[in-house]
Amino acid sequence: MYAKLTHKLYLLEVKGMKVVKKVIYSGMQPTGVITLGNYLGALKNWVNLKDDYNCIFGVVDLHSLTVRQEPAQLRKQARDILILYIAAGIDPEENIVYFQSHVPAHAELAWVLNCYTYMGELSRMTQFKEKSSKQGENINAGLYTYPTLMAADILLYQTDLVPVGDDQKQHLEITRDIAQRFNQVYGDVFKIPEPYIAKSGARIMSLQEPTKKMSKSDTNPNGYIHLLDEPDVIMKKIKRAVTDSNREIVYSADRPGIKSLIDIYQCFTQESIETILDRFQGKGYGELKQAVGEVIVEEFKPIQNKFKELQKDKAYVDSLIKKNSETANYLANKTMRKVKKKLGLPPLVK
Ligand code: TRP
Repeated sequence: MYAKLTHKLYLLEVKGMKVVKKVIYSGMQPTGVITLGNYLGALKNWVNLKDDYNCIFGVVDLHSLTVRQEPAQLRKQARDILILYIAAGIDPEENIVYFQSHVPAHAELAWVLNCYTYMGELSRMTQFKEKSSKQGENINAGLYTYPTLMAADILLYQTDLVPVGDDQKQHLEITRDIAQRFNQVYGDVFKIPEPYIAKSGARIMSLQEPTKKMSKSDTNPNGYIHLLDEPDVIMKKIKRAVTDSNREIVYSADRPGIKSLIDIYQCFTQESIETILDRFQGKGYGELKQAVGEVIVEEFKPIQNKFKELQKDKAYVDSLIKKNSETANYLANKTMRKVKKKLGLPPLVK
């Protein structure tokens, strides 16, 4: 009745000894395209983790339903994002990439966790407060209980570590609180997840309003770079990036446009800010922009090629989707069975 574990066992060799790798969980919503900001803030770091951890990366499509989506577009974006995970270097044979909606246990556990979460806790979530004030019209219950679905994502896989940016810290905190509360009543059901703080990974700002975070839902496409933008589009967007009317290249918070370009460059080249400033000393904004555009194009090129290749091979991608969702279901159901048993829900009759 339960799918088999088709992935390899997740072992790591440390000094000749085999140890079980820690589990890392993260996900992206298919509410738009993957931007340069998502790439540098998340995806690129995930790729660095893929060999040392058992990584589980979801395309968290159920989360996207808190905002109205156009069905055909949602379907396409979700698949594109999953393919981009792979194209960027996540190995779907070693790690798990899957659609959240292919694993019914997410919604199931989210319901259970709702019954162990207080309205007061959810009301205090800054993201809910922000989104509900912005969204105005459609303040639905899903938006409110978003954190319990996210907690379910993480807890289903007995996750050790969650790479989180500042905006998701509070969601991880509430996940830990809910898990601890549940464990206190029922024993050790859930692993209590810890935040994983990435070594690098800057907050990438909008190219048009460099004091705001780059967002995939920006209505002005010049504000962001899409992982699938063609080279000439990338160059054009970088050249149009808003800077200031100064001339020298300095790295300072009151010159956010230039600072942001240097940050992007730094993320790609991994050089120190001093080295970069030295290189561009006496040079103009135009030269910096040219160099920033080039490093982006160069790193995106192989990802884009791999994406196109995978996109053409529908049968292969489908087989990966099937296999990965089987593994995800296997692991999730294992936790779910434990939860149901502890709660006293009647066992299945075979
Ligand atoms: N809420 C996250 C975001 O908007 C996405 C997400 C959903 C997630 N479930 C998760 C991230 C579990 C980490 C772990 O960015």
